[in-house]
Amino acid sequence: MDLFQEISTKDKKTQISTTTGRVILGITGGIALGLTIISSSFIRPAFRKYCLPYIPATDEQLKNVLTALKNREGLLLDLGSGDGRIVLESAKKGFISHGVELNPWLILFSKFDAWRKGLGKNTNFYRRDLWKYDVSKYDNVVIFGVEQMMENLERKLVNECKNGCNIIACRFPLPMKKPLVTIGCGVDTVWVYNIEKKSA
Ligand SMILES: C[S@@+](CC[C@H](N)C(=O)[O-])C[C@H]1O[C@@H](n2cnc3c(N)ncnc32)[C@H](O)[C@@H]1O
Repeated sequence: MDLFQEISTKDKKTQISTTTGRVILGITGGIALGLTIISSSFIRPAFRKYCLPYIPATDEQLKNVLTALKNREGLLLDLGSGDGRIVLESAKKGFISHGVELNPWLILFSKFDAWRKGLGKNTNFYRRDLWKYDVSKYDNVVIFGVEQMMENLERKLVNECKNGCNIIACRFPLPMKKPLVTIGCGVDTVWVYNIEKKSA
């Protein structure tokens, strides 16, 4: 091999390793960017006025919510619907169920899960802020919130919900209203309230 051939072989090897390096850098960079975008949707709620993280309802909690919904019917809303489990389980029981959720990935997952379980027609998921969402048309409203938000949320629900609407609060009760029933215990407790509007 003469000197010229040797240099050109070295050049080729350098070129290949540079290309491989770029591909690896591109892939890892893409993965890192994707993970950052996805995880930021889960971290962002921590920086809002009320930090309401994604914590899915436990099986026991879900069972208690379904007990609270016995003998009820109509339109149901889960405020902060997470992965959609309350919306889907209530839809299985015959409700038309809606979920309001800020996290786009959880909305996407919920819609996919609803389609997969054949519940697409009875369910809807909206990417909205629960504080700005109009709750006046619902017969049943479910909330799994955090303690700090419950006072303000109670004000919103009492003002906006229609007469006869049932509110189902999971883990943290409404601080001012007296519950009709309390179901379960500990972290899985569910409180049921009824909205009564005096007619003018
Ligand atoms: C405690 S999780 C409850 C999830 C679901 N309801 C369940 O019981 O499995 C609260 C959810 O509310 C969502 N969230 C937080 N702030 C919100 C807001 N301002 N508007 C709508 N959703 C919100 C979070 O992304 C999270 O998925």
